[in-house]
Amino acid sequence: MDEDAGSMKRIFNSGAGAIVTKSIGLIPNKGYSNPTVIELEHGILNAMGLPNPGIDEFSSEIKILKSLRIPLIGSIYGKNKDEFVKLAVKMEKYGADAIELNMSCPHVKRYGLEIGSNPKIVRDITKHVKQESNIPVFVKISPNLMNIIEIAKAAEKAEADAIVAINTVKAMKIDIELNTPVLSNKVGGYSGSAIKPIGVRCVYDIAKNVNIPIIGVGGINTGEDALEYIMAGASAVQIGSGIYYKGIDIFKKVCKEIERWMKKHGYKKISEIIGVAHS
Ligand SMILES: Cc1cc2nc3c(=O)[nH]c(=O)nc-3n(C[C@H](O)[C@H](O)[C@H](O)COP(=O)(O)O)c2cc1C
Repeated sequence: MDEDAGSMKRIFNSGAGAIVTKSIGLIPNKGYSNPTVIELEHGILNAMGLPNPGIDEFSSEIKILKSLRIPLIGSIYGKNKDEFVKLAVKMEKYGADAIELNMSCPHVKRYGLEIGSNPKIVRDITKHVKQESNIPVFVKISPNLMNIIEIAKAAEKAEADAIVAINTVKAMKIDIELNTPVLSNKVGGYSGSAIKPIGVRCVYDIAKNVNIPIIGVGGINTGEDALEYIMAGASAVQIGSGIYYKGIDIFKKVCKEIERWMKKHGYKKISEIIGVAHS
């Protein structure tokens, strides 16, 4: 969730298997003005507006990460097929090991759900990025959709290598003294513990309907949380807000808690647990 190479290195050294960058666009983007992030009772509400230095400026960070041999998933966003393809080609050229297509940001107009809620567009963008890429391509899906299965199937049809679910849940906080939404953008995306049941349900539904791997994300703070996603059908998980709540050691802790649970229940491989909640 942070595009700075120093902080990504710290996270890697703390036990994460790979790192996903913040979403990167073609040109530098300042994002929204403050407030952009607020902590609520059970999670974090953010509308950052996809701030990033642009893909070319970001290449220096990627180069540092490459020299550290850190597996890197480059997240990209664009407003159409041509932008996504250009970004994917550059991400690969600069050294990313996989590409994550962010078509699911809940608080940016032309770059988010306008694209990610349309199965034809998702299929078209994914297909063209796949054609121009030699590294795995993941499609990140929003929970703010009535047609989540249709979108997942569109990604599968376009030969996406995996689906990432979920992005943040569209949400709002109002300051009742000031009679106004707190975020400068008014609407934001909710993350953290509160959204875990939503994420688990999305992964479960997607797993029932597609045959490509799913990467589960949303509200994971413990090994038990990760196991829920895996039993729902995820082959891997990502952690975002958990870093804020539990600190940088969260990755090691989650891995240890999963291992402990597996030992106790007589499992040897994660693959034995993936999707068991479906049987
Ligand atoms: C401050 C903040 C910034 C985020 N930025 C991005 C982003 O640039 N691209 C993206 O695909 N998801 C972004 N996300 C969403 C997370 O990757 C993740 O899908 C979501 O927060 C749910 O996981 P969590 O509960 O573990 O945080 C962001 C989330 C937060 C809280």
